[in-house]
Amino acid sequence: MDLQKLFAARIGGAQFGLTDEIYKFEKIKRAKAAARAARPEVEMLDFGVGEPDQMAPGPIREALKIAVDDPANRGYADNGVRAFRVAAANYMEKFFGVRGLDPDTEINHSIGSKPALAMLPLCFVNPGDAVLLTVPGYPVLGTHTKYLGGEVVKVPLRAEHGFLPDLAALDPAVIARTKLFYVNYPNNPTGAAATPEFFDALIAFAHRHNILIVQDAAYATLIYGQERLSILGRPGGKDCAIELHSMSKSYNMTGWRLGFVAGHAKAVKAFAEVKDNVDSGQFKAIQLAATAGIADIQLSESIREHYRRRLEKLVKVLQRAGFAARMPGGTFYLYLPAPKGAGAQVFKTAEEASQFLIRECSISTVPWDDVGAFLRFSATFESAGAADDDRVLGELGRRLAAARLVF
Ligand SMILES: Cc1ncc(COP(=O)(O)O)c(C=O)c1O
Repeated sequence: MDLQKLFAARIGGAQFGLTDEIYKFEKIKRAKAAARAARPEVEMLDFGVGEPDQMAPGPIREALKIAVDDPANRGYADNGVRAFRVAAANYMEKFFGVRGLDPDTEINHSIGSKPALAMLPLCFVNPGDAVLLTVPGYPVLGTHTKYLGGEVVKVPLRAEHGFLPDLAALDPAVIARTKLFYVNYPNNPTGAAATPEFFDALIAFAHRHNILIVQDAAYATLIYGQERLSILGRPGGKDCAIELHSMSKSYNMTGWRLGFVAGHAKAVKAFAEVKDNVDSGQFKAIQLAATAGIADIQLSESIREHYRRRLEKLVKVLQRAGFAARMPGGTFYLYLPAPKGAGAQVFKTAEEASQFLIRECSISTVPWDDVGAFLRFSATFESAGAADDDRVLGELGRRLAAARLVF
């Protein structure tokens, strides 16, 4: 058979797998492997990883051990365990001051935020509908919008606008055919946190134009120098928004795969309908383990403190190397203008800068060239413990100084 003829156009049709286009993260992976092979004695300092460096908190792991042995938890979870939805409602109140979310109609679990972002277009997007998506950013909702024949309109996040979308600059013709507006605060990769004023303006915009806001709150608890914020806690927010929360970053549960969507009851109902036709729910033991920890502020605060300490040190080291670094509003990322060269070498893009740093300095970062040239440094770097953080960061500083970066 000629399988090549069977592939759907959305993944490249008959050309699927035949082009030699290499995606950003694959390029980084290959460059890291080449640098390790060329200089096996040099430690790779990895600031490119986008997931926690630590395990999930002890009480959550202990709760899993008990739940896994309970025969009542062995079956399909379908659209979720009520105890987790109740715990999620408590968490929204305790952490974000969002009162009175109905665990039965306004919350539904998901197997992480990523699949939820893949399913939401199935609920709303018809061919030709537009979806607004901030860039740089997490692409999954956009990818699935395109799969369905929708149009993805990129909304740039610029430093001069605090990495918040400029609502006044949006094209009225596009707005008229827009169904969803994807935003993500605290933001990956820029590290920007939303302000109450921005959420209020976004809510007014959504009501004015009948657009559902999809607020990806995957980093909601990792916030510095300001209050935690949910769009659902702002006036009118629950009537025009759905917010996605995740256990991945807030509770170091990346591989466990658990999150929830909350907000407008009809949007949650549509999500549950589609989800019911896609998966059979996350393992009940995992939902019950999360239930034991999600509303415990102390657990989440110690995780946030870990990143705050590391980010503050990282900022100082990068400033000394010439980067315009300062503490982000949230997440565990620093998003910084890329160097323009090193010694006599010139970098035309952030990708060139990133490849140089991997190849010549064994330092891995993630480049972004969507809106200006930026490098993302993540405070999730590997070390042998808090004391070893200083050694890794000292080594980073020495290597960057030797590289003679030009800004
Ligand atoms: C902005 C953003 N949204 C969603 C996700 C995925 O989260 P989850 O692990 O809950 O699927 C990530 C992961 O890196 C992310 O950065």
